Amino acid sequence: MSANNEEMVVTPWEVRGKIDYDKLIKEFGTQPLTPELLEQFRTLAGGTLHPQLERRVFFSHRDLDWILQRYEAGEKFVLYTGRGPSGPVHIGHMAPWIFTKYLQDKFDAKLYFQITDDERFLYHDQFSMAEPSKWAYENALDLIALGFDPRKTRIILDTKSMGVMYDLALQIAKRVTFSTVRAVFGFQDSTNIGLVFYPAVQAVPAFLESALVGHNVPCLIPAAIDQDPYWRMTRDVAPKLGYYKPAQIHCRFVPGLGTGGKMSASMPETAIFTVDSPELAKKKVLAAFTGGRATLEEQRRLGANPDVCSVFAYDYFLFMGEKEIGELRYNCLAGNIMCGECKSILAERVEKFLIEHQEKREKAKDRFEEYLFNPKDA
Ligand code: TYM
Repeated sequence: MSANNEEMVVTPWEVRGKIDYDKLIKEFGTQPLTPELLEQFRTLAGGTLHPQLERRVFFSHRDLDWILQRYEAGEKFVLYTGRGPSGPVHIGHMAPWIFTKYLQDKFDAKLYFQITDDERFLYHDQFSMAEPSKWAYENALDLIALGFDPRKTRIILDTKSMGVMYDLALQIAKRVTFSTVRAVFGFQDSTNIGLVFYPAVQAVPAFLESALVGHNVPCLIPAAIDQDPYWRMTRDVAPKLGYYKPAQIHCRFVPGLGTGGKMSASMPETAIFTVDSPELAKKKVLAAFTGGRATLEEQRRLGANPDVCSVFAYDYFLFMGEKEIGELRYNCLAGNIMCGECKSILAERVEKFLIEHQEKREKAKDRFEEYLFNPKDA
C-alpha cells in the first residue's frame, strides 16, 4: 500500500499515511494561523514574515495570539524546542530549528533546547546509554551550526541536567495519571515504566525559566505537529502548578524524497542527512520522486504536478524565495521545465547548503560546553 493510501497516524514516535493538516487541527484542538494573526506577527517582527510563515509551513498554533499580546505589552517570552538523539539529523529536523533561530533573532528570545537522550534510550530496545549520548553531541553540532546566540541558548541534555529538572519533573508527574498518559500516548501494559514517566521530563523546559526566575515567563514551542501530545498534557498540568500554559506553533512535515510520507531517518535513501557527503546528497536528489509525466513529449504538452513532487516540496520548504517558487510552479504546470532540470537545480542548492553547513558544524565542535545548560546561568 502506498503511503498516501494508508490511514493517517501522527504521534511523537510514528508518522504515516497521507497527512491531512486541517483534520489534525480539528483532532488535536489547535488553531489555524489566520491572516489577521500573521499581520500582527509581521508588525512585531519588523515588517516582514519568514517564508515558513508566509507559505504556512507553520500552519497551526495554540495561544500564539496571547503570547504576541504579552510581548506587545512588554513581557518577553522564552522559546523551547528539542531533539531526540537517535541518529544523524536530517534536513526535515532542521526546518523548525531554522524557524526557531529566526524567532530568537526577531524577538530577542532565550531558547531552551532539550536533547532527550533518556527518551531515546528508553524507546529503542537495542540502544545502550552510549548510543544516544553520542548522537546528543553530534546533533547539538547541527543546532550550534545554525548560529544560535550562545548567550541566549541553553542546551538541556536530560541525563546531565536532570539534577535541576528533577524537582519540576516530580511536580508534574504527581499531577498526571496513568490513564491520562495511556489515552494521550497510547501506552500499553507492556510499555516500560521509564517511558510512562518520560512525558513529565519533556514538559519541564516549558516551565523551567519560570521556576528559575521565580515568576511566570511565557513560553513558545516551535516544532512539527508530531510533538503535540506532549503539549496537550503539559498545558493540562500548567494551571495546577500555577504556571502559564506554554504556547505552540506547529509546522508541517518536510516530506522524504520518495512517494509521500515525512522525511524519516528510518528511510535513509529518501532523507538528506546533514552529515551526508554532498555527492551522496546529490545522488539522492537525482533519484527523487517527482510529479513528472511518463514521457517528455507528454510533459511538454500537459505539464507536470508540483503538488505531489518531492523536489518541489524541498524548494518550497527550504530552498526557494517567493518569486522563484511562484515561477517554478508556473513553469512546471505549463510544461516549460522538465524534471531533470528541476532536480539539478535542487541538487546544486542542497550540495551548497551541505558544504556550508558542514564547515559551520566543524567549527561548532569545541563549543558544546558553551551552550550546555548550567543552572548558574538562570
Ligand atoms: P525528534 O528528534 O523526533 O524531532 C526533532 C524535531 O524535528 C521535528 N521533525 C520534523 N519537522 C519537519 N519535517 C520533518 N520531516 C520532521 N521530522 C521531525 C520534530 O517535530 C521536532 O521538532 N521528543 C522530541 C524531542 C523534544 C522536543 C522538545 C521536540 C524534546 N523537547 C520540544 C520539539 C520541542 C523528539 O524526539 O524530536
